[in-house]
Amino acid sequence: MSQIALDNPTYVDWQAPPRYPGEGEIHVWKWIVDATSVEPTALGRLDAVERERHARLVTPNLKQRYASAHAGLRRLLAGYLGCKPVDVEYRGSSTGKPLLRHGELQFNLSHTADCVAAIVGVSPVGIDIEQQRAVNNLRSLATKHFSPAEMASLDAPSSLELGRRFFEVWSRKEAVLKCLGVGFRHPNVDLHVGVGVPRSVEVAIPVGWNSEISRCWVASCWSSDVAEAVASAAPFQSIRVFTFAATS
Ligand SMILES: CC(C)(COP(=O)(O)OP(=O)(O)OC[C@H]1O[C@@H](n2cnc3c(N)ncnc32)[C@H](O)[C@@H]1OP(=O)(O)O)[C@@H](O)C(=O)NCCC(=O)NCCS
Repeated sequence: MSQIALDNPTYVDWQAPPRYPGEGEIHVWKWIVDATSVEPTALGRLDAVERERHARLVTPNLKQRYASAHAGLRRLLAGYLGCKPVDVEYRGSSTGKPLLRHGELQFNLSHTADCVAAIVGVSPVGIDIEQQRAVNNLRSLATKHFSPAEMASLDAPSSLELGRRFFEVWSRKEAVLKCLGVGFRHPNVDLHVGVGVPRSVEVAIPVGWNSEISRCWVASCWSSDVAEAVASAAPFQSIRVFTFAATS
């Protein structure tokens, strides 16, 4: 794969969902939270656990995003599974990564600002999107999480470029961590995700992490001011990007 293009999605009609991703392929779904969308429609697709989490959110924006993200996720997964969105069943891994209760299909979800993205594959996958924003103590945060080579990449000519490089590394690292299903369990400085490479690269998972997954493949790009990164436990040569109308 020479260049990933997460910013050029194909619209998919709800009646014609894509088949499972093939070998060497991952699917990425992207949609925008529509502030005017009818929240009860989205809420009607959620299960009791999701509705309870939605109820605990305090701001209208967070509620709207949660409803759109999880209703949209159910809708796209239902397309692959051939069931209704309300009938998609989840379980959590031992580390809390959401998984489908039945079958082999793998997925992951991410949201930032009014953007939502999900990844679907047949091996463990992770996705992270991050809107570029001001970060307090950016360098000290990076020191805690970035490898020496990643730290060196922060040697940028302007604060804008510094922010871009920070979020590029951050999103790639989060995508790998989400693929593995682990959070802040290990020293992330041991994980080097590669920077500035416009194609998928292989990443070695540190041996001390005792992960069942020893290698990941990660790719990233920018879509306007949003850093987008995907990771998969299997090599991929193709990323197919889809979207649908969030309100339908
Ligand atoms: C749980 C975690 C993975 C979420 O990441 P985030 O950037 O805050 O949020 P995102 O929008 O990208 O992802 C949230 C989604 O990830 C999924 N998720 C939750 N736990 C997960 C886990 N253990 N593994 C993978 N995915 C997980 C859920 O679908 C969640 O959606 P929800 O909150 O609406 O239910 C995060 O809190 C975490 O622990 N990240 C690792 C922290 C870290 O070391 N970062 C350093 C990077 S340099």
